[in-house]
Formats: sequence, C-alpha cells, structure tokens
Amino acid sequence: MKHLPRTRAAFYAALIATLLTGHAFAQPPATTITVRLDQARDTISKHIYGHFAEHLGRCIYGGFYVGEDNRKIPHTNGVRNDVVEALRQLQIPNLRWPGGCFADTYHWKDGIGPKQQRPSIVNTWWGGVTENNSFGTHDFLNLCELLGTEPYLAGNIGSGQVQELADWVQYVNFGGESPMSALRKENGRDQPWNVKYWGIGNEAWGCGGNMTADYYANEYRKYATFVRDWTNNKGGIFRIASGASSDDYNWTEVLMKNIPKSLLEGVALHHYAVIDWEKKGPSTTFSESQYFTTMQRALRMEELIRKHSAVMDKYDPAKKVALVVDEWGGWYEVEPGTNPGFLFQQNTMRDAMIAGTTLNIFHNHCDRVRMANLAQAVNVLQAVILTQEEKMMLTPTYHVMEMYKVHQGAVLLPVEVQTPAYGVGNEKLPAVSASASRDRNGRLHVSLVNIDAARAHPVALALPASKLKTVTGRILTAARLQDHNTFETPDRIKPAIFKGATLRGEKLTLQLPPFSVVVLELQ
Ligand code: AHR
Repeated sequence: MKHLPRTRAAFYAALIATLLTGHAFAQPPATTITVRLDQARDTISKHIYGHFAEHLGRCIYGGFYVGEDNRKIPHTNGVRNDVVEALRQLQIPNLRWPGGCFADTYHWKDGIGPKQQRPSIVNTWWGGVTENNSFGTHDFLNLCELLGTEPYLAGNIGSGQVQELADWVQYVNFGGESPMSALRKENGRDQPWNVKYWGIGNEAWGCGGNMTADYYANEYRKYATFVRDWTNNKGGIFRIASGASSDDYNWTEVLMKNIPKSLLEGVALHHYAVIDWEKKGPSTTFSESQYFTTMQRALRMEELIRKHSAVMDKYDPAKKVALVVDEWGGWYEVEPGTNPGFLFQQNTMRDAMIAGTTLNIFHNHCDRVRMANLAQAVNVLQAVILTQEEKMMLTPTYHVMEMYKVHQGAVLLPVEVQTPAYGVGNEKLPAVSASASRDRNGRLHVSLVNIDAARAHPVALALPASKLKTVTGRILTAARLQDHNTFETPDRIKPAIFKGATLRGEKLTLQLPPFSVVVLELQ
C-alpha cells in the first residue's frame, strides 16, 4: 500500500476490512469523552464492590468451605486459603450471606454450637440437597474477618419469626450480658462482631414469601423495629429492604412511601442480565446475537437505576436512603452435566463486558447507588472464582473487578460520552462506556469498555483544566468473545499492560480493541 496516495490507501483498507467484517465502516468515528474535573462532588462508595455468598450449589461447600478435616486443600478452620487470598487481593468491601432465596428458609440457631450436633435440613430452593449446617454464623463471620470485609447478613422474614431475627442481632452484636451474648460466649466468641448491614428478607415478592408490596412494607416496619442498633444510634446498623425485581417501580414507590425513614437505610434492587428466563443460552458457546441481547439486558441497569432513583427522590430528596443493587450479573444455562439447581456457569469475555459496563453505571450513579453485590462470589452465576477440588481459577470478571478497585472510595468525575453505536440487525447499543474518578492521592483513573464484538474504537478524551503529565494503563481482552479461563489454562485471560494511550496536554487519544476493558491511570 506504500505507493498509493493516503486517501486511496485508506479507502482500500476500509473496503477490505468491510468485506472481512461485514460492517459498513471498519473504522468507526471517534468516541469523544470529556472528563469534568470541575464537577467532582460525590464519592464512589467502596461498597459498590460487594459480593454475595449463598448456600447454593458449590458456593459455600467446596467453594469457600471444605471442612476442618480436609487434608488435600490448604485451609484455615475449614475455609480455603486460596479463595481467601484471591478475594483479599480484590479488597472486597462486604459479603452478603446466607442468601438469596435460601435466607428465608434459614434458621440461624441451626448453624451454631458443636458441628456434630447441628441438625440437617433440606435446601429446598437449590437442588433439594441436604444442608448439614456445618457452615454457620461463626464460620461466616470469622471468614469475613479473614477477608477483611464487612458482613451483610440477610434475615429470614419469610419462614422465620421476629424474635428469631432480634435474637440473631443480639447474638452477633451485643457486648453486654444477655441470654444471646452468653450463648455466643459459650460457643467460643467473647467479643461481638458488630455487624452493620442487615437485609430484612430477600425477594419478598417471590421466594421470600410472595408478598404484596403493601404487606411487605408492613412486615418490614415490624421486623426493622426489632433489628436493634446496639451501638445506641451511632450509625451502627444499616437496614436494607428487600427491593424490586428489575422494573417494578411500584414496589420501590410503596416502600419509600410507607416505611418511615427512621427505620430504613437502604432499598434493594435485583437485576440479572438474562436473555430469556425460559431459554437462557449457553455460557460459552453463545452467538453474537445472544451476546448482543445479554448486553442489552445488562445495560438496562442504567435506565433501572435512573427510574428507581427518580421514585426515591420523590420521598427522599436528600438521598439519605441508599439504592442497594444486592444481586446483579449474567445468568446462563448451567455447564453441561452439572446439577441444574447449582447454577454453575463458565465466565467469558462477555462477562467482563457486563462487569465493566455495570460498574461504570454504578459509578456514574454513586449519589444514590451506594452498595451492590455481584451474584455470586464462587462457583455460582457470574462468579469471580471457580474451584474444582484443589484447583482454583480466576475468571475475566475477577480481573475486571481487580482492575477497577482503584475507584473504591474515590471521588467521581462525571463524564460526557459521545459514542457510535454497536449494532446487530436493527438493534443498537452505545459501543463505548466510561467512568472516571480521582483517588485520595490525586491520581485520576478512567475506565473504558468497548462492547463492540468486531470493531476497535478510537477514543478522544478531553481533560479540561487538568495538569496531568503521565498515563499508564492495563487492558483485558482476548482473541474471541467466548474465550475463558479453564482449570487447565487458568491464565489465558488476564490483564496486560496497555501502552496505547497518548497524552498531549489536556487531550488523550487511544484505540480500544473490540470487546476490551481498559483502565488508565493519569498523574
Ligand atoms: O442468586 C441466585 C438467586 O437469584 C437468589 O437466591 C435469589 O435472590 C435470586 O432470585
């Protein structure tokens, strides 16, 4: 091509690329992003990076906990050291337990005291397997201490009683003398754990009791009254109402209208990126059209947060109540040959796209979204870690969360994004998503995701009124969207150094490869 005039060369290059990719324009117009350093106001709560561990499939048993007597897998009091170490690297801020749907069947007193004496129950929601309660309250709260994370306990209001929940709070949080603190001490724990985050039921509109919004709001008022703050109203308790499923705005409206703000610190929202509940599609052998639909579902989070927040603003203009997205992620068919009730699925670059874009949405709405929990941490749904006996591997989702952790607790810098569409058939989605923040050391981080399955996207980033001198970066991408790590090739997908960004004064340019996540650091 050297001898051709530039414009003709570009024309032929575009023509060849068009023929090869089937896209009308191989080189899309540049995405322009302006980072508004002058509009820094809200902090990105680290709790947006929370995780979720349910008694479901191999999340707890085999995932976190392998038993005190295990001689094959290194552990601390039965908890896998490799999983703890990997999650410590992520700096996970909170961990939700014991469910999910399981929470409203769980009676915490079954899970304390000598393990041989604990009763067995049936896990009615997840595979009908026998649950021997060998992993209970002490095991979970000690795990949180190992992880350096805050526990988020989901209380049972579906099949449980008010007294039961009140006792649980007293058992784990009361420092003085009481029947429950005495029982805790008898079971080997002197000091209370001071658990701040409490869910008042889970999916009360469904597996948590099939309640109406009005009925649940009343139940919430009753239960929340007895979730006592043993720190004497010093902000030691944070109660989260079981929230809406996706676009059930009426649910949020009824809760916000009927629950006094003195009893409510957070309202939940659950939204999964699922193609169709009847036909979820495979986790690795998906088509581009299935990928596109997944991304449509995932990006819907933006609209859901905007609309639920608008309802909340009506009743809480000061934004005291947090929107807590305590279940989110991709949901596909289980891996062939595995128990359908265990929700075990692989994790590809598609999941990295879900994670990167969803976290960008959370950042950009951090004034209201102050907590979130990816479903789930290990071996279930969009897991960050998969285990198989003594083997453990990190998924592309893990790597996105690790790259993005620089945003935890940083100040949001609003971004204005103009980006071309990524389309399949007649449907279109914005190709590039972005968010930016400044950490307490003055470093600026910009996270970019190009969801386009075929085209690289040039990006022109403006940083008005900045005096930045250096840019470094990391990238996560792969040869194919369907690529994933396996126990045999655990490092196929991992972050690499990104040297493709050029900073000139207040302008930065780069090229984002197809289906890639890039995090830049500017100083
Ligand atoms: O995360 C799996 C399940 O999805 C949870 O138990 C439930 O709350 C939701 O429906």
